[in-house]
Parts: sequence; structure tokens; C-alpha cells
Amino acid sequence: MTTTAAGSGTFRIGGDLEVTRLGFGAMRITGEGVWGPPRDPDEARRLLRRLPGLGVDFIDTADSYGPEVSEQLIREALHPYDGIVVATKAGLTRCGPDRWEILGRPEYLRQCCELSLRRLGVDAIDLWQLHRIDPQVPREEQFGVLRELRDEGKVRHVGLSEVSVEEIEAARAVVPVATVQNRYNLADRGSEDVLEHCEREGIGFIPWFPLDAGRLAEPGGAVAEIARAHGATPGQVALAWLLRRSPVMLPIPGTSSIAHLEENVAPAARVLAEAAGARRGAAAGGPPGGAGPAAARTAARRPAP
Ligand SMILES: NC(=O)c1ccc[n+]([C@@H]2O[C@H](COP(=O)([O-])OP(=O)(O)OC[C@H]3O[C@@H](n4cnc5c(N)ncnc54)[C@H](OP(=O)(O)O)[C@@H]3O)[C@@H](O)[C@H]2O)c1
Repeated sequence: MTTTAAGSGTFRIGGDLEVTRLGFGAMRITGEGVWGPPRDPDEARRLLRRLPGLGVDFIDTADSYGPEVSEQLIREALHPYDGIVVATKAGLTRCGPDRWEILGRPEYLRQCCELSLRRLGVDAIDLWQLHRIDPQVPREEQFGVLRELRDEGKVRHVGLSEVSVEEIEAARAVVPVATVQNRYNLADRGSEDVLEHCEREGIGFIPWFPLDAGRLAEPGGAVAEIARAHGATPGQVALAWLLRRSPVMLPIPGTSSIAHLEENVAPAARVLAEAAGARRGAAAGGPPGGAGPAAARTAARRPAP
């Protein structure tokens, strides 16, 4: 039985950077309000060092997480990375706990990239994402910086965050877009059209809030009954549902807890394997798969009463 994230399969970012699809979101390894250091930095480093053993080789962070703190901890724990892909972002500046301001002036974005390179201790960032398109700055100027940094070799692949299909295509007129990171989970599918576009175009889709900021992992929540039927936890079912929703889906559940990390990774793969078994059974004329993740997907698509 698969006990690591490897069971989630792989995806090639930009066609050449292979990652295991179930990744890790490193926003929660900072202080309260994503501000300052975490309560226990040693524990945060232990959590990060646990990732390779669990088969997780894709980490999502941002210069604004802390700010700087998340990238620093990732470097302290994992440099020189050895097969781990670190995706970071730029374009949000911080003025205090839980405060996020969009800033997309080209010179600021370039500085963000230079400082992320320095903090992460790399010559090139694997995947550099524009955290938000700044409505106060011509978007072509922002896309232009992405292209320049890619051309200069400081960034291997480029991604966008919180964008529409029209914005993706406007960016692609300037620079190849390898990934899109929009809010998306079993309970929130406002970006369905963007996901379908990414699937058609072979763009990786990174759903942020994959556990709906923890609500889908709570006992008694939307998928609790399905989870019980599978001997799984609700969070595992929510992640398995995402993984089955699309082959371009790269979920990045966030946690500050090693126990939750282990819970999220291994059994999500098991639920996937069970679902695959149910599909094979159904194809062979056996009984239907019952209340697996596919059933969750169907149920969740029904309009709310
Ligand atoms: N592009 C953007 O604008 C944007 C915005 C937000 C986030 N993100 C990215 O998306 C990643 C994921 O988002 P997120 O961390 O905000 O939300 P999330 O993954 O949907 O949920 C994280 C929450 O769920 C809890 N949790 C995780 N595993 C659990 C488990 N097994 N059982 C019970 N609770 C569990 C965590 O608490 P514990 O710490 O107690 O486990 C945390 O409070 C972030 O790390 C970041 O990289 C991007």
C-alpha cells in the first residue's frame, strides 16, 4: 500500500519540471497573521525536513509569508533542496499581521525576485508566481518583468495567482505561463472555468485553501460521512477529491503540525488507490464504488438547497 505522496502521481510544470502532485503550502509555518517567526522555529524546520521522507517534493511559499520567514526556514531546513521544487511568489507587500497590499511596480517585482533568490540561496527560482496583478500598474509591465527574469535565467518557470481566463491569455501573449494558483476546493469552485482552461492548455492548477482554510478537515463537516465510510479523515477525502478532479491539479495543503502533515499525505494516496479500485470494479461490472471521492464530487455539484 502506498504510504507517501507518490501515490498522487506526477505533473511536469512547464513541461519539464516534474513534481509529485500532492505538495505542501508553507504559509502556516510563520507567526500569527502570517507575520513574524512561528512560535517554535525548530518544529517548523523539523516539519519541513519531514517532507522528503513523505514523498513531498513541491513546496509553495511567498516572499510575503512572514514576510521572508517562510523562505528563510525552507532554506535552513532543506538547502540545497536535492530534488525539491520550491515555488515562491511576489507582488504583495506587508504592513502588519493579516495585512496584504498589492504592489506590482516592475522595479518592486524585480527586487522581490532578487531577494527571494538570495534568501532561498539559489541561482534560479524553480517557479516564480505573480501573487496578484496590480490594477494600478499596466499589466503588460508586470508580465514583462516575468518575461525578463525568465529570459535572464533567474526564474525557470512563471506562474500567476488569482486570475481569470482572459488574464491568463493576456499574460501568455507576453510570457509562457506554467501554473495558475487560484482559490479552489470541494466547497468553493468559483474558478471552475479557469481550472478547465488550465486542463485544456496543460497549465498546472494550484488550488489555494485546498482544505478551505481547515474547514473541510473539521470533524462533522461536509465530507465527514464519506470519510467514515473509508476509514479516512475528512481532510484526506477533500484532498483525494482534488487529486481526482483533474490531472493538472497540484494541491498544497498547509499545516504547522507534523501530525497533520503525515495525515494529509499518506492516506490521501490510499483513498485515491481505493477510488481507482472502485473504478476498476465498476468497469468490470462489479458493484458501484459507493460513497468514495467520486460520490463526494457528484454530491458537491448538486446546487445548495
Ligand atoms: N495564492 C494565494 O493568494 C494564496 C492564498 C492563501 C494561501 N496560499 C497557499 O495555499 C497554501 C494552503 O492554504 P492554507 O494553508 O491557507 O489553507 P488550507 O491548506 O486549506 O488549510 C490549512 C488549515 O487547515 C488545517 N489543517 C491542515 N491539515 C489538517 C488536518 N489534517 N486536520 C485538521 N486540520 C488541518 C491547518 O491547521 P494546522 O496548522 O493546525 O494543521 C490550517 O489551519 C498556503 O500554505 C499557501 O502556500 C496562496
